[in-house]
Amino acid sequence: MKGQLLIALFLAAVYQLTAALQWPSTSSTDIYAIRSQRDLTLNVSMDQLIYPAINLNTVLLEPLNYTYDVLASFTDLVSWGASRFFLDLYWNDKKSRWQVCPFIDGVQHEQERDRNGNHTVFELNHGGTEEAAIFYYNDSVYLCNLTLLFEEFLLDIVKEQWILTTDDNLNAKTVIVTLNLRNAIEPDYAPNAAVISESFQISSAIENSASMTSSAPLAYPSESFLKLSEKIEFVLDGYAYTPGLLAIDRQQSSTWNSTGMSSTGWPLLDNVLFRNFYRILFSFGEVEVSDEEYDIEGDKTTIFSSAEIPYTGERAVKYSSAFSSAQLQSSTSPVCSIRRDTYLVDITSTDNVVSPSFLLASDTSESRFSVDAVRQYIKCGFSPMLNATGKDEDDIIDYVTKNLAGSKWSWSDDQPADLLNISDVSSAPTRCARLAEKGWEVTNCYAKYRAACRISKGAYSFVLSRKEVTYYDSVSACSGSNEVFTVPRTALQNSVLQKLRQDTVGSEAIWIDVNSLAEPVRFEEYPHCAQ
Ligand SMILES: *[C@@H]1O[C@H](CO)[C@@H](O)[C@H](O)[C@H]1NC(C)=O
Ligand SMILES: *[C@@H]1O[C@H](CO)[C@@H](O)[C@H](O)[C@H]1NC(C)=O
Ligand SMILES: *[C@@H]1O[C@H](CO)[C@@H](O)[C@H](O)[C@H]1NC(C)=O
Ligand SMILES: *[C@@H]1O[C@H](CO)[C@@H](O)[C@H](O)[C@H]1NC(C)=O
Ligand SMILES: *[C@@H]1O[C@H](CO)[C@@H](O)[C@H](O)[C@H]1NC(C)=O
Ligand SMILES: *[C@@H]1O[C@H](CO)[C@@H](O)[C@H](O)[C@H]1NC(C)=O
Ligand SMILES: *[C@@H]1O[C@H](CO)[C@@H](O)[C@H](O)[C@H]1NC(C)=O
Ligand SMILES: *[C@@H]1O[C@H](CO)[C@@H](O)[C@H](O)[C@H]1NC(C)=O
Repeated sequence: MKGQLLIALFLAAVYQLTAALQWPSTSSTDIYAIRSQRDLTLNVSMDQLIYPAINLNTVLLEPLNYTYDVLASFTDLVSWGASRFFLDLYWNDKKSRWQVCPFIDGVQHEQERDRNGNHTVFELNHGGTEEAAIFYYNDSVYLCNLTLLFEEFLLDIVKEQWILTTDDNLNAKTVIVTLNLRNAIEPDYAPNAAVISESFQISSAIENSASMTSSAPLAYPSESFLKLSEKIEFVLDGYAYTPGLLAIDRQQSSTWNSTGMSSTGWPLLDNVLFRNFYRILFSFGEVEVSDEEYDIEGDKTTIFSSAEIPYTGERAVKYSSAFSSAQLQSSTSPVCSIRRDTYLVDITSTDNVVSPSFLLASDTSESRFSVDAVRQYIKCGFSPMLNATGKDEDDIIDYVTKNLAGSKWSWSDDQPADLLNISDVSSAPTRCARLAEKGWEVTNCYAKYRAACRISKGAYSFVLSRKEVTYYDSVSACSGSNEVFTVPRTALQNSVLQKLRQDTVGSEAIWIDVNSLAEPVRFEEYPHCAQ
């Protein structure tokens, strides 16, 4: 009797496994905005970019279970604009493997007990595939797909579902995956895995879902295929940009920091993404596994240290205080101020002064990001990291999509809009971009504004033209010596120019050197615009 009851319960529970997360699709406007922002940052070094980030564990896997469908959200998240991911990997000492599931399965309990401490009897035990298991831990129930190992994540999700489907000039992006290494824990109680597996197969047979067929297993090169770096090199050969490659780029003087060429800088995005099509960087986050169990020393030419790509320390802040709405709306941020003369960012909440390089701001479940807060950090050059656990699936999807959609530093909401139909000069190209209070906006090229000019190619040195001109006359309007009509290429440059715009012309807009004269949707810099 008891056995049957338990199985009914498990069936009900694992039934949920078959419902994939329903991510809404991104609008074509957002896709163009993300793409044109990517194109404008190609000449920027990797460390100066904004990487909208998400902690896959706290935001998705913990509340929604450690299943394939939840982890496969990776691809949707990239299309929503996420470009940095935090993932916990659990070292299962008993099986010598890196798994996504936090629990050790197959533990022999002296006596199997239910969560109330009563003895339980399992009547079914058919062997089975051991694909899914339920764990009780700290008064919560978790469901795990036990075959979700690090190498499966790399092969199935990162490579097959994302890299290979976006490996072209329009869609390719480079992302960072930061790995937290933790020890798999013994659950308080785990029913026999084989039982779950059996019922799982029943439920998937009912669903008759095609997605249940697992891909062919990897042919691993050797028994001792344990190193994380071996897995990355084996599965993602040629797609990962590594510390070894960075060392070569630095030797060859093709690395930059915010002030110029630098032997401690990073390569331009263009060199990583388009010269060699490197799509992914790995870095270490929290490492809780001891050296005796797993020594990360052997991974250091493949996986960046947390000194190179930080997740904590002076370059990372936590969003913990509630800003007033007035602070959030103001164009100068409550968390930082930018020193234009030294190119440094003052983080006022921690009194740190740092150069802009891989800056990170994370939220917590107690103090979740709003879109306004996300924008406030981006203005200061901080990549926002979504880290809060939501109430339920709808809440989580809403939190993630809203904040990722709000993570652009360039175009304002619903931009770049196609102005073809609302043009007042119907036969002329009308798609130029102005910098307005809320961000970049598509506007008629014949409108007259002052133009943004850069002085001597300085990263943060801007002036405005004296005269108001059409877009076409902006090049000549930047007339001072060493002045060129320009567009900000990073979030910080954009903030510096916004400040100058506001101080000089108040609520008026200014021209920036971005247009889409040839095609309605491909916005790009057009330095020598010919009329
Ligand atoms: C996670 O799995 C447990 C156990 O199967 C189940 O009770 C719970 O409803 C699942 N959570 C979600 C969000 O599917
Ligand atoms: C990047 O910079 C180089 C050298 O300054 C220049 O030739 C090239 O046109 C720039 N590319 C883009 C996309 O801005
Ligand atoms: C153990 O089971 C008995 C009957 O099967 C039930 O009355 C009792 O509440 C259970 N104990 C706990 C702690 O749930
Ligand atoms: C167990 O859950 C409680 C309440 O949710 C929490 O405060 C505690 O930190 C958890 N303990 C562990 C070891 O996760
Ligand atoms: C479990 O994960 C594997 C990849 O490790 C995947 O192929 C399989 O479809 C997943 N099972 C379910 C039921 O989602
Ligand atoms: C950039 O690199 C140069 C040369 O390595 C160094 O002198 C300068 O301080 C660096 N600037 C910043 C902002 O880190
Ligand atoms: C993310 O959230 C977790 C749990 O709420 C917290 O322990 C952790 O410190 C947070 N991480 C960061 C980088 O803020
Ligand atoms: C723009 O005009 C074309 C042709 O008149 C029409 O087919 C299209 O639906 C219009 N688009 C919008 C967004 O109004």
